[in-house]
Amino acid sequence: MHKWQIAALTVGIMFSGAALQAGVAPEVQKDIEDFQGYFMKRFPGIPLEAYNDGVNVLPQYDERRANWEILMEFPPYETDMETARELWAKPFKNGKTFADCFQNKPPATKYPYYDEARKEIRTIELDINECLSANGEEPIKNLKRGKMAMLVAAFREQFNGQQWAVDVEGKGAVEAYKKGRQFYWAKRGQLNFSCANCHVHNAGKKIRGDVLSAGLGHTTGFPVYRTKWAVAGKPWGTVHRRYGGCNSQVRAKPLKPQSAEYRALEMYEAVMSTGVPLKVPSQRQ
Ligand code: HEC
Repeated sequence: MHKWQIAALTVGIMFSGAALQAGVAPEVQKDIEDFQGYFMKRFPGIPLEAYNDGVNVLPQYDERRANWEILMEFPPYETDMETARELWAKPFKNGKTFADCFQNKPPATKYPYYDEARKEIRTIELDINECLSANGEEPIKNLKRGKMAMLVAAFREQFNGQQWAVDVEGKGAVEAYKKGRQFYWAKRGQLNFSCANCHVHNAGKKIRGDVLSAGLGHTTGFPVYRTKWAVAGKPWGTVHRRYGGCNSQVRAKPLKPQSAEYRALEMYEAVMSTGVPLKVPSQRQ
């Protein structure tokens, strides 16, 4: 593509509000436009790219945002991020590194992706563990926090500022995506809430002292360093850790991190955030 065509595309994105994504089926493109269009109308004046700040971007959070901005002058995750980068760069016993594995993988802006050969959604976590096994190292057991979350952060931060652009083309990919969409909109738990009930219909409203974030932008900042998790000494969490928490809140049984359901959900949320730039890691309350 020529530079001017890219520029024209960017202008198109700015005017329509919803991002155009080359690698998605028409049905998926329509979902993106509806989802993003809803928030553009609901919160006029907030540009698409600002949604990577999670709840901090919403006007209902203005008072608390000031505190968050002070905290961000010396982000509490910085020391851990140095460790994370070292973990990422440290050669395995055979001399190979994670970078060697990931040079044959899509960029972080295209994760999770549908693997046609294996007929499944692949996440960074799964590919990290596969890389370890392939190089004779022990795969990481805890898939939702600690070392795994830090390694995912070290990989994803290399793509910070780049727009998210997950592909959903082909029958298998579209079916997997639809499972995630179904999960997002289905009511569950004793409280009978869907993800959309909180993060679409009630975005910006207060719930038990929290303000609900918009579903748009979800997962662009993950893994996150969370104050609440830091209290118990385990500040880092992947997005599947967060999903588990959100399922428990409505008294639904949380699923296992990296279950097929959560991977499909992650794909759906990522696709809805097409065009939002990655911002990893993020600090959350
Ligand atoms: C009862 C309301 C409720 C439901 C239902 C709910 N959540 Fe949440 N969720 C919250 C609250 C509260 C937070 C913390 C404040 C915020 O960021 O929205 C949160 C945070 C999140 C975040 C972190 C956003 C960020 O950038 O830090 C993600 C991602 C998320 N939820 C996804 C989901 C998904 C997916 C579902 C459905 C399985 C779901 N939530 C269901 C209340 C809910």
